[in-house]
Amino acid sequence: FKVHITQGDQLGKAVIVSWVTVEEPGSNTVLYWSAYSKKQKSEGKVTTYKFYNYTSGYIHHTTIRNLKFNTKYYYVVGIGHTERQFWFITPPEVGPDVPYTFGLIGDLGQSFDSNKTLTHYELNPQKGQAVLFVGDLSYADNYPNHDNVRWDTWGRFTERSVAYQPWIWTAGNHEIDFAPEIGETKPFKPYTHRYHVPYKASGSTAPFWYSIKRASAYIIVLSSYSAYGKYTPQYQWLEQELPKVNRSETPWLIVLMHSPWYNSYNYHYMEGETMRVMYEPWFVKYKVDVVFAGHVHAYERSERISNVAYNIVNGICIPVKDQSAPVYITIGDGGNLEGLATNMTEPQPAYSAYREASFGHATFDIKNRTHAYYGWHRNQDGYAVTADSMWFFNRYHHPVDDSTSAQ
Ligand SMILES: *[C@@H]1O[C@H](CO)[C@@H](O)[C@H](O)[C@H]1NC(C)=O
Ligand SMILES: *[C@@H]1O[C@H](CO)[C@@H](O)[C@H](O)[C@H]1NC(C)=O
Ligand SMILES: *[C@@H]1O[C@H](CO)[C@@H](O)[C@H](O)[C@H]1NC(C)=O
Ligand SMILES: *[C@@H]1O[C@H](CO)[C@@H](O)[C@H](O)[C@H]1NC(C)=O
Ligand SMILES: *[C@@H]1O[C@H](CO)[C@@H](O)[C@H](O)[C@H]1NC(C)=O
Ligand SMILES: [Fe+2]
Repeated sequence: FKVHITQGDQLGKAVIVSWVTVEEPGSNTVLYWSAYSKKQKSEGKVTTYKFYNYTSGYIHHTTIRNLKFNTKYYYVVGIGHTERQFWFITPPEVGPDVPYTFGLIGDLGQSFDSNKTLTHYELNPQKGQAVLFVGDLSYADNYPNHDNVRWDTWGRFTERSVAYQPWIWTAGNHEIDFAPEIGETKPFKPYTHRYHVPYKASGSTAPFWYSIKRASAYIIVLSSYSAYGKYTPQYQWLEQELPKVNRSETPWLIVLMHSPWYNSYNYHYMEGETMRVMYEPWFVKYKVDVVFAGHVHAYERSERISNVAYNIVNGICIPVKDQSAPVYITIGDGGNLEGLATNMTEPQPAYSAYREASFGHATFDIKNRTHAYYGWHRNQDGYAVTADSMWFFNRYHHPVDDSTSAQ
């Protein structure tokens, strides 16, 4: 019996509540209310899946709609003696100067270090209001036959946060669960049964790429493990999506993906390269503020750089400083069992502003349309300490050089 929530529409007036019951399907009803409204009910659906010799519990997904902005709601799932109550706070209405604080967690897993990362996030005085999760959730696929019990235990472990605030999901390679040797040939089966996202609300045709607006941010989630070449559904969607972003309404344009484009560790080196070649010119054209990725189990922050001049024959293939380009941040240091990525390419490339192999999480604290304060928090430090930080100046409203080094 484990509960999680995520945003359920494009604007933040809906919430998807998901929970698993083990013995019997029970009810799909969520009962919810606020201090200003009477108790209401919302009805959802139940699903199950099998994976090799594992059979899931009853997985319920219910979307609550037409919520009021900036309001605390209580909700109850289950029936009779298994009833449980939680709460969440809806985001403020979308607008250009609405402050909002996002947490950033990636590659979490369920080790001692994972628990430390989550605890540090919860106790961080910056008080994250929603988590942008950059992929690799349970690491069930590291166990024999992708032991799907690990998906259940991960749900139980993360519930203490994700039942109370939405986590915005990105799919990583550990969500693929492609295992033909045991007859499992449908990619993303456990992930798509357990974690629903509001992809249809942004015109997407698959749950792996989608967008939401939340407060003053426009968040685009991409899939490193779905086709992204020209003419593919993801390509076509992103091509139509970027011009829709209205920076007067949502100044902050944030992109999430799993596999980083700029990574100077000797792990997963260049894995993001083909996607970078396809999409980077758009990120520069549309002035994306920041790109968060995971995958590499360490931390890295880039300067604002781009590498879009190369045309196969001109040889111009070195990243250059570019004030229209995003900052790229790798935050794959959630603490899973695979351990830290410590082996870095030497020397540190000029585009890499800061890199360190320590577990932790980050926060992106939007103050208004021009300023956001970003901080990386290591697990070995106190809850309020930032080991790396930066004031972000918005690329649309305040495109002043915000680099942290003198290079
Ligand atoms: C699934 O199979 C594995 C070995 O093939 C076994 O160890 C495990 O107990 C089985 N699990 C269930 C739920 O039957
Ligand atoms: C995880 O952290 C919580 C709170 O910080 C603590 O109460 C709990 O005992 C920890 N769990 C494990 C398995 O270490
Ligand atoms: C962009 O958003 C602003 C502020 O909400 C609004 O006034 C304007 O009409 C929008 N522009 C477009 C093209 O929708
Ligand atoms: C670090 O990675 C490089 C490149 O893969 C490899 O040649 C080297 O042996 C590695 N160093 C260590 C200490 O593992
Ligand atoms: C935006 O926030 C920054 C940082 O808190 C502050 O210095 C600046 O004055 C704010 N801008 C406006 C217009 O309030
Ligand atoms: Fe990964």
